[in-house]
Amino acid sequence: MKVLEINGGKRLYGETTVQGAKNSALPCLAASLLGKRCVIHNCPNLTDTYACIKIIKMLGAKAELTGNTAIIESAEELKSYKIDDALMKEMRSSIIFLGAILSRCKQAEISYPGGCCIGARPIDMHLDAFRQMGVEIEESCGRIVCNIPKLKSCRIRLPFPSVGATENIMLLGAASNCEITIENAAKEPEIIDLLSFINSMGGNINMDDCGNIYIKGVEELGGTEYRIIPDRIATLTYLCGIAMCGGYGRLNSARYEHIKIPIEILEDMGCALEKGESYIEIKAPGRLKSPGLISTRPYPMFPTDAQAVFMAMATRSKGRSCFIENIFENRFRHIDELKKMRALVSARGNLAYVKGRRKLKNADMEAKDLRGGAALTVAALSAKGLSTVSGVEYIDRGYENIERSFGDLGAEIIRREM
Ligand code: UD1
Repeated sequence: MKVLEINGGKRLYGETTVQGAKNSALPCLAASLLGKRCVIHNCPNLTDTYACIKIIKMLGAKAELTGNTAIIESAEELKSYKIDDALMKEMRSSIIFLGAILSRCKQAEISYPGGCCIGARPIDMHLDAFRQMGVEIEESCGRIVCNIPKLKSCRIRLPFPSVGATENIMLLGAASNCEITIENAAKEPEIIDLLSFINSMGGNINMDDCGNIYIKGVEELGGTEYRIIPDRIATLTYLCGIAMCGGYGRLNSARYEHIKIPIEILEDMGCALEKGESYIEIKAPGRLKSPGLISTRPYPMFPTDAQAVFMAMATRSKGRSCFIENIFENRFRHIDELKKMRALVSARGNLAYVKGRRKLKNADMEAKDLRGGAALTVAALSAKGLSTVSGVEYIDRGYENIERSFGDLGAEIIRREM
């Protein structure tokens, strides 16, 4: 078992460079199946990235990750249109391969990705959209079998701006020769990154200011060399760590324009921030003020992925705060662990109330999901004494090397094999 061992209670001072965005890299890797030779820089080294590479190879394309550069050479013909159950389970985002496989093979067979620890995560919007595009879908015994007799142009209105469904429609539509409009599409920076990636391969996809996406499916896509945007959630995790521990830090390769609302909250809590074009500097106050009310919503509002780290900060800030989790139904699993540090948090349904206190007590905690694990790490860094966080495999799904990044910022944190 791997654990993070954290000797907390010290102010953080230092600088680190933010990794590439996981939620951009994974769909771009799937999109590379649609084209020729794709070189993707700034790909984070994560277990989910490795799972993507395995899926791409299993489908018959060449794929390798060297350092932070992935090179994918898609085959003339893919050798499989199925993804193994084991690989589907390894990574929830394997569902984004459905659009790419269908585009290439005109048929696909995958197992239902099922629920995961943060919620049920249904895929009905993905499948409804595919049906409108002309895909025939049969679902039985947890398998999804898709065939395309003929793709058709259409206008799809998503009932909710789902990130995954928007990506899947783009992946199927990009080289379809059809015109697809997505109304109420997701607008996350990672969606824009996927759009730019596909366009750099010769695609023709545009988004208007209202969040509608217009796909003019081309005949075929070529190769590209592309750099993934920095990870906004990793950026926020390190900013929250510095804010909570006190001190000063600089994050290189950070993009302020992707996290305007969380940054405003950090400023309201008393942090001083300098926002450069590709860096952010933060100076923490003596004691943080409470963040007040945080309600998770689709971009550009407050991201669900940052709820847990902001809650960790709230446990030590002055005053009370309230969190409303609107995206996933099981995203408060860090609360019981934070309570081990004597944090004053109570939850009812999708609401959590926090009463900030001056100090947390060091504790041994267990990460139950990726972002919750990052929140426990940040909380442990701010508490005097030795804490441990187990369940590191969750954290490794989204952070390239969390102990190195916090180490760069002056934290005493090591990974131990127990
Ligand atoms: C979501 C987040 C994304 C985050 C990612 C990983 C939002 C809007 N999306 O993306 O920012 O990076 O998790 O944590 O914040 N839904 C359905 N049916 C579907 C698809 C989705 O009911 O077919 C529901 C989900 O249950 C959820 C909401 O829509 O309540 C948002 O889902 P979606 O954006 O698709 O999830 P992800 O793509 O995983």
